[in-house]
Amino acid sequence: MRIDILTLFPEMFESILNTAIFKRADERDLVEVIVRNIRDYTHDKHRTVDDYPYGGGAGMVLKPEPIFEAVEAILNETDKRFHNTEEVQIILLTPQGRKFSQEIAAELSQRNHLILICGHYEGVDERVREYLVNDEISIGDYVLSGGETAAMVVADAIVRLIPDVLGSAESHVEESHNSGLLEYPQYTRPPDFRGWEVPEILLSGNHGEIAKWRREQAIFRTASRRPDLLKRAELTSEEKQQAEGLHKPSD
Ligand code: ADE
Repeated sequence: MRIDILTLFPEMFESILNTAIFKRADERDLVEVIVRNIRDYTHDKHRTVDDYPYGGGAGMVLKPEPIFEAVEAILNETDKRFHNTEEVQIILLTPQGRKFSQEIAAELSQRNHLILICGHYEGVDERVREYLVNDEISIGDYVLSGGETAAMVVADAIVRLIPDVLGSAESHVEESHNSGLLEYPQYTRPPDFRGWEVPEILLSGNHGEIAKWRREQAIFRTASRRPDLLKRAELTSEEKQQAEGLHKPSD
């Protein structure tokens, strides 16, 4: 997979690209991440990327030209036909986008090429939305000062789903959201920490009973913390009944 990130603050991505997952993905030739400065696609002396909004109002708006030129440069480099949705997903990070989820991360992890565009200031010229991007993603119902942190969240969630990026010890098969349930409680040594003991079942060595306990805990946790997730979780009819008993209407 190739991920191009368009931003006004490329230095913000240095630390995340140096973390184990991204480094490993790069070393194994599984993912290539290229961060580009939108300012490099301007042509005036001041390298202007924003301007006042037509119609007045507070703040500045990102101009369309440098963003279009940056995307077009990437598409030319990679020999992709402009706007071919099958081949490249051009994503604008914006609070107005579809809400990011594990499902969307899984969908995007199947793509060969993503372009993530980080918005800033008061917004991005509407023509970028209308005529350039083919997807818009929000990471939640709050406003960030820019799309950079959102792009990091999205890239991280996607890259770790690409086969062979995670080591076997970091498997995501059982982690929160993968089965539609939150993850069961985890413990490590010591077995007694300040008088708080690890549940005995986990020390029993009985793998069948441990798996059963973990499943129950995951259902209980989801029912008490995120009952909204239960509707779409993969549960047996017995588990469904069990969960309904746990999920009180006041939750
Ligand atoms: N840019 C500003 N806020 C955002 C959000 N919540 N999600 C994605 N991009 C953003």
